[in-house]
Amino acid sequence: MPGHVAVIMDGNGRWAKKRFLPRVAGHVKGVELVREMVRACIERGIGHLTLFAFSSENWRRPPDEVSLLMQLFVKALEQEVEKLRRNGVRLRVIGDLSRFETHLQELIRRAEEKTAANDRLALTIAANYGGRWDIMQAANRLAEAAPERGGKWTEADLDPFLAMNFAPEPDLFIRTGGEERISNFLLWQLAYTELYFTPTLWPDFTATEFDKAILSFQQRERRFGRTSEQLTEQPNA
Ligand code: IPE
Ligand code: IPE
Ligand code: MG
Repeated sequence: MPGHVAVIMDGNGRWAKKRFLPRVAGHVKGVELVREMVRACIERGIGHLTLFAFSSENWRRPPDEVSLLMQLFVKALEQEVEKLRRNGVRLRVIGDLSRFETHLQELIRRAEEKTAANDRLALTIAANYGGRWDIMQAANRLAEAAPERGGKWTEADLDPFLAMNFAPEPDLFIRTGGEERISNFLLWQLAYTELYFTPTLWPDFTATEFDKAILSFQQRERRFGRTSEQLTEQPNA
């Protein structure tokens, strides 16, 4: 099983359009699938699930859609957090939260606090997140913390300042909705992640679809730069 799965939940709008529904109906359905995905990860013993909910570029969408997405986010936090807490899920939200209205920021803070003692599943929602933003905020904070070493920093120096510093790098990346791109998600952390793209739209991405992605992951050989022979001769080298 992958220890950390990261997902770009794409295709809500097209799912709704196919049904002659407003785009937001796709987002509403999408939230249901998040619930299913959380359940599936717990059942399969997956420790980390990271979901891209809103990118730093999604502010470019029509104001009505942005506002409805924010309302959905608020509603989900109000309604789901207690259930997450009872199920052993620790919720974190990564991204530049300063752009959200204070009520939403407060809900996020409380949700993180309420679930902080849980360790069955680490559920991370990337909201107003961008991979480039993450690398830059980490670099800026590192520069502030260790200015005397300017210009001599290593990758390991940057790691603790990145938004996902609490998690291992993703093993499996899934993007639904047919597009084969990263769209500024976890750029630094995906360096050696196995990528899985599926045309299935997010609201149709059931546990059965998830199992197909896991099966594909299990059939890959992760070489991390080594040769295939090295892996079979000394599996832990
Ligand atoms: C993903 O679905 C959800 C968000 C980006 C919030 P989309 O809304 O991008 O759906 P499509 O890609 O238009 O179908
Ligand atoms: C990526 O989806 C972001 C999220 C799913 C939150 P988009 O639909 O915004 O990505 P692009 O614009 O097609 O690259
Ligand atoms: Mg999209």
